[in-house]
Amino acid sequence: MDAGEAAGILLAPPTDREPDAAYAALHAHGPVLQVSESLFLVSGYDAVDRALRDSAMETFDKEQLDSAWPGWREYRAIALFADSMLRSNAPHHTRQRRLAAGVFTARRVAALRETIAGQVDELLGGLTAYGSGVDLVGRLAYPLPIWVITALLGVPEADRGRFRRLAEALTGVLELHWTEEDRVKADAAADELIDYFAHLVELRRAEPADDLVTALAAAHDADGERLTADELLANLALLLVAGFETTTNLIGNGVVLLHDHPTYAEKLREDQELATAYVEEILRIDAPVQLTTRRAAREAQVAGVAVPAGAEVVLLLGAANRDPGRFDRPDVFDPTRAGPSPLSFGAGVHYCLGAPLARMEAQVALSALLRRFPDLALAARPVRRARMNLRGWRELPVTLAR
Ligand code: HEM
Repeated sequence: MDAGEAAGILLAPPTDREPDAAYAALHAHGPVLQVSESLFLVSGYDAVDRALRDSAMETFDKEQLDSAWPGWREYRAIALFADSMLRSNAPHHTRQRRLAAGVFTARRVAALRETIAGQVDELLGGLTAYGSGVDLVGRLAYPLPIWVITALLGVPEADRGRFRRLAEALTGVLELHWTEEDRVKADAAADELIDYFAHLVELRRAEPADDLVTALAAAHDADGERLTADELLANLALLLVAGFETTTNLIGNGVVLLHDHPTYAEKLREDQELATAYVEEILRIDAPVQLTTRRAAREAQVAGVAVPAGAEVVLLLGAANRDPGRFDRPDVFDPTRAGPSPLSFGAGVHYCLGAPLARMEAQVALSALLRRFPDLALAARPVRRARMNLRGWRELPVTLAR
């Protein structure tokens, strides 16, 4: 496969196809491929890392969208993301991020470890009823992150069941390609989430609690210029959706990798301390977020290639993690490897706010799963979700005992 064919595959509508061969072809070509005058694919580790830290490379905020795609405001899912920190540039990004980071603190996250371990135990205990066949996506990889993020936000338990569908629909527009049907579903999900959080904010104003909805609503109420009403709701929806779609995929991807590498699984079962390195390697080789995009606010350089103002740059995080110039035998799962951190949580100002939480959930869930069910095995080869960006397994049918 040459780089042109690789670009064709990566830019085509998403399928369940593995991107490995396309990434290898891009690496053979070089760190950057110019696809057209205004479109670049970046696959080299250093090139992706630097582009993410380059202030000339802006995320698609309202201004960028106005110039690239007039009419975007009709699309409520796109508008929701554009009101959030994910799709804002400085100074609006800095303002929102500071507020969110102020409430989403390392202390709040670290304090959750025991609670997460308890929740994992409960979910694993529930699995024993299904000894002969159970879907781990439905019974563990989804419910755990939903439980954690909804508990942090302060979403009542009774409402938690609806978010898997909403997140799946909303994140459809985070793919490079989406259809009209995807867009309609994403817009409906955006409306539902915004209405939901508007209602919850009202409830918390009347009855404050020790949760993120109360804290962020208070920040808005104190000064609407620091966090507008639209930004408040969009960031709450972002935290919810970013908080579990991705973590679900990290846990699911980890289950399959450990199943396929029983010797390493055995080592992790014996020594939980290894969980940190194992989760880093799972993040590297099977990144739950495979790419992000930027637009050049002015003429810029990426790995020595001139990128004109207004060009779109696709930063292939999943490819960067397999750059043979940075990782020895990049396609091999090796949790003992040394080397740079994977770029799975991005880099620079938009570096994932939830990275410590996601890592902790996966570390606790995977090591507890292995210990509790030493005979865990895939009941059938699982099928990928038809997504190019948010990468995970549609379901994971397993047997728990021989
Ligand atoms: C394995 C799980 C996760 C992965 C792989 C992941 C990945 C990412 C990536 C790649 C970005 C940067 C996007 C860009 O630069 O355009 C990001 C941003 C973000 N993530 Fe995560 N994420 C995960 C879990 C979480 C969790 C658990 C939360 C919250 C509870 C979260 C909240 C956010 C937020 C708020 C941003 C936007 C930050 C900003 O724009 O400043 N993520 N994430």
